[in-house]
Amino acid sequence: MSSNELMIEVKDLTKSYGPIRALDGVSFEVRRGEVLGFLGPNGAGKTTTMKILTCFIAPTEGQVIVGGMDIYKNPLEIRRNVGYLPENAPLYPDMLVTEYLDFVGVIRGMSRADRKAAADRVIEQCGLDEVVYQEIRTLSKGYRQRAGLAQAMFHNPQILILDEPTSGLDPNQIAEIRGLIKGIGKEHTVILSTHHLAEVQATAGRVVIINKGKRVADGTPRELERQRGGALYEVVLRRPADGTDEIPAVFERIDGVDAVEKVEGADDELVFAVTGHADKDVRSDIFGAVVDKGWVLLGLVRRQVDLEEIFRSLTVAETGKGVE
Ligand SMILES: Nc1ncnc2c1ncn2[C@@H]1O[C@H](COP(=O)(O)OP(=O)(O)OP(=O)(O)O)[C@@H](O)[C@H]1O
Ligand SMILES: [Mg+2]
Repeated sequence: MSSNELMIEVKDLTKSYGPIRALDGVSFEVRRGEVLGFLGPNGAGKTTTMKILTCFIAPTEGQVIVGGMDIYKNPLEIRRNVGYLPENAPLYPDMLVTEYLDFVGVIRGMSRADRKAAADRVIEQCGLDEVVYQEIRTLSKGYRQRAGLAQAMFHNPQILILDEPTSGLDPNQIAEIRGLIKGIGKEHTVILSTHHLAEVQATAGRVVIINKGKRVADGTPRELERQRGGALYEVVLRRPADGTDEIPAVFERIDGVDAVEKVEGADDELVFAVTGHADKDVRSDIFGAVVDKGWVLLGLVRRQVDLEEIFRSLTVAETGKGVE
């Protein structure tokens, strides 16, 4: 099998729940050894997509091939080939971690010897050794999430589908789980959903962003930065005596500047947010224009648009709502 073999192919996927169109013609692909970050705000359709990929629900329309198999024709084989960490991991609070893992193997129809070997493997992979004899109810959230991951990896599937694996965790636990996923991603194909692009930077090679059931971006974080990102300048001027109306137009005329927005400043200061192309630094042009006009420059800072801002511009603009 080649390393860039297609492991997941989704084409024109549509899912309606009655009048609600949760997915509207979504297409994407994932190759072997790839970690794909699936990003979108609340209600975007991430969980719906993952439930379809794992054959828990059927789509309304579209084609889905997982590990070379069709979800309509081979759902059982797909479920054997795929590990799934659902949004709220189904853990049994009264069971010890070791009992729970064994139970997962029993459900999968594995022999006692295979279950023992699998348990040893996932306990090691997910760093569960300290809690194997603890009741699940007593686990911290981070360890609960690890137990959920261990469940998903128990039958050593080629494909892992993880629905918000780091949600609700503290920053240390997030870093640990991200490290874990990155390691897993070297040998498996992983799709993880998240609200945070930073998560994708930390774990994933590529990102698909969906909003309101539609795909709005697909690429590596670097590609997204190149396509959508730019440079942001904060320009602070002393408020000129002879009016401020012409200032935005002066900056807008500079080659490489896309937009100029006035931001509130202190009484005698004016602050402008200037957006420009990522590959051109216009600080000297801004400085030149300010000197030409006889204005007083109090501050000039340049920074790259970060990925969270790109995510927000792709998703907030349409919904008009913030992202978690
Ligand atoms: N069983 C259902 N019946 C009706 N509507 C549903 C059902 N499941 C999901 N939806 C709707 O489908 C849309 C997509 O939901 P989904 O759970 O896939 O979003 P999500 O991207 O996972 O969001 P979140 O980030 O909040 O988990 C939402 O509008 C949701 O209300
Ligand atoms: Mg969800």
